[in-house]
Order: sequence, then C-alpha cells, then structure tokens
Amino acid sequence: MTVVKAPAKINLQLSVGAKGDDGYHDLATVFQAVSLYDEISVRPGESGSGITLRFTGDNPHIANLPTNNKNLAYKAAQLFAQRKKVSLDLIIEIKKQIPIAGGMAGGSANAAGVLVALDSLYETRMSKEDLIALARQLGSDVPFSLTGGTAVGTGRGDRLTPALARGTFHWVLAYSSQGLSTPSVYEECDRLRQGFAQRQPRVSEELMHALSSGDPIALGKSLVNDLQPAACSLKPALKLALSAGMESGAIGALVSGSGPTVAFLAKSEEASIDLAVALSSTGAVSQLGRAHSPVGGPRVIEN
Ligand code: C5P
Repeated sequence: MTVVKAPAKINLQLSVGAKGDDGYHDLATVFQAVSLYDEISVRPGESGSGITLRFTGDNPHIANLPTNNKNLAYKAAQLFAQRKKVSLDLIIEIKKQIPIAGGMAGGSANAAGVLVALDSLYETRMSKEDLIALARQLGSDVPFSLTGGTAVGTGRGDRLTPALARGTFHWVLAYSSQGLSTPSVYEECDRLRQGFAQRQPRVSEELMHALSSGDPIALGKSLVNDLQPAACSLKPALKLALSAGMESGAIGALVSGSGPTVAFLAKSEEASIDLAVALSSTGAVSQLGRAHSPVGGPRVIEN
C-alpha cells in the first residue's frame, strides 16, 4: 500500500479575463499550497475487480461524492493505468479534510495524490514533466496540485511558473456547510460582467513583491479574487464573513478560488489564534480552521 498526503491551495490572486471559445477563462493567478491535507492510499485490488474508490472523514457531504468515473481521483487512476499500461485493479481510499466544493482544489489534490501514489506503487518513476502533462488533462488546477509551493498560473491556470516566496504565512479558514460549483461561479462572474470588455489579466507586481519579501502586511493588501463578487452574489453570507474577519483583526481576507471557503490572513501564527477566537465570537462564520503556507506538493508518507 502507498499513502500520499496532498495539500489544498488558495489563490492569492485570481484575475479572470475573457471567456475563450473553449468555455475556459483566461487567468492570471498566484497559487499557494496550504497545510490542509487529504490522505490518499492506493493498493492493488483482486484481479478483475477494477477501481474501487472510497472516502472517509467527518465531512457529511462525503456520501454525495461520486465514486465512479465522474470523480477526478478515479479519472486520474484510469488515465495513469492507460498510459503506463499497469493494472486497473485498485483500491483507493481518501481521508478527506479539504472541504468539498470549497474552492481549495480538494478534487484536484486527490487526483494529483493518486498520480503520485501510483507512480510510487508501480515504480514507474515518471518525470515531473510527464506527470504534469497527465495532470493537465484532468483539470486546470491539477498541475498546481501536483507541484505545490507557490506558482503563477496562466492560460486556464494550468501553465505554471514557480514564484519566489519567503517566509510562512498564517491563515484562518472559514468553511461553509454547502459548497459552490466552480462552473456556476464562473457563469455568475460572466453574468455580473456582461457588457464590460475584459482586459488581459496580469500578475500583480505588488503581490509578487510582497511574496518575495515575505511581508504579510503587504500581502494582505494585495490579495485579489475576481470570482469573489460572483461567489458573494451566490452566497451573500460571504460578505458578512469577509467584513467580520477584517473587524476581528485580519490583515487581509478573500474568498478562496471559486469559494465558498474564506481565507483570512494574520500577521503571525499567534495572531492567527487570536483571530480565530475573535472571529468565532462574531457568529458570522460557522466552522473555522487554521493553516500555513506555502507547503510542498503531494508526498509519499508510507510505501
Ligand atoms: O478545468 P476544470 O475542469 O477544473 O474546470 C472546471 C470548470 O471551471 C470549467 O468547466 C469552467 O466552467 C470553469 N473554468 C473556467 N476557466 C478556467 C478554469 C475553469 O471557466 N480557466
């Protein structure tokens, strides 16, 4: 059995340009992997049994996750087996901690984790480039989920360049009990922007400087997410959560990706503990967690 720990991500910047003919939006995004992990274990199943996918964890929505070829982790296993001509008889178990449909790339982390786990299980020793090529076929966020750390994403968000980041940033995360579907958030974004021309999105120099100097105050001021108005339009409670966080001492706040998870930045680890306490007493958020960034990509923890 091979076990892999795969991290969630937040987008420190998510600038959304025009929608292309392929239905995808042109992005300029800055990803950072955060210390919130799913654990993916993979072992060979009985001959002829095919892929068995199971989820465990406290999240009540686990029961609604597809366990067939509609699931990204399942698709990742299929794609890997096809390419590397290895057995499809597999038992995949995923211990979920990353919110489901939360805008933190949980599904992509699972797919990336499966690729890394199978590469290790079958000792195929694929190069990073070959794994990224597979990841790109699975979804826009999967290449970053495979890489971790800090990276700039362009195109669909799947063309990556590593970015320099110094130090560690501390976050309080507010989870929602109901997720948001990524395509509907993009659709709402298009609806809200109807009639306005979209400029080519660009990576913020201010943000890159805040990262390279490891300055949390500057980072807090340069966080940006063009999908935030759309997520707030679909879930108005997010606006309350964002302002409650700033009033509780956050130095920056934004909806993570397509939401609805909200990420609040704190000055230090200690400040993040105070922020979580202050935020929970406002009643504007229900479930809170803490995490730091950046962290590395998926890692084999048992073989
Ligand atoms: O690539 P992935 O399957 O993860 O994308 C999910 C959905 O998010 C797409 O079907 C599309 O609606 C939206 N999306 C987009 N532009 C991007 C990335 C995703 O519109 N750059």
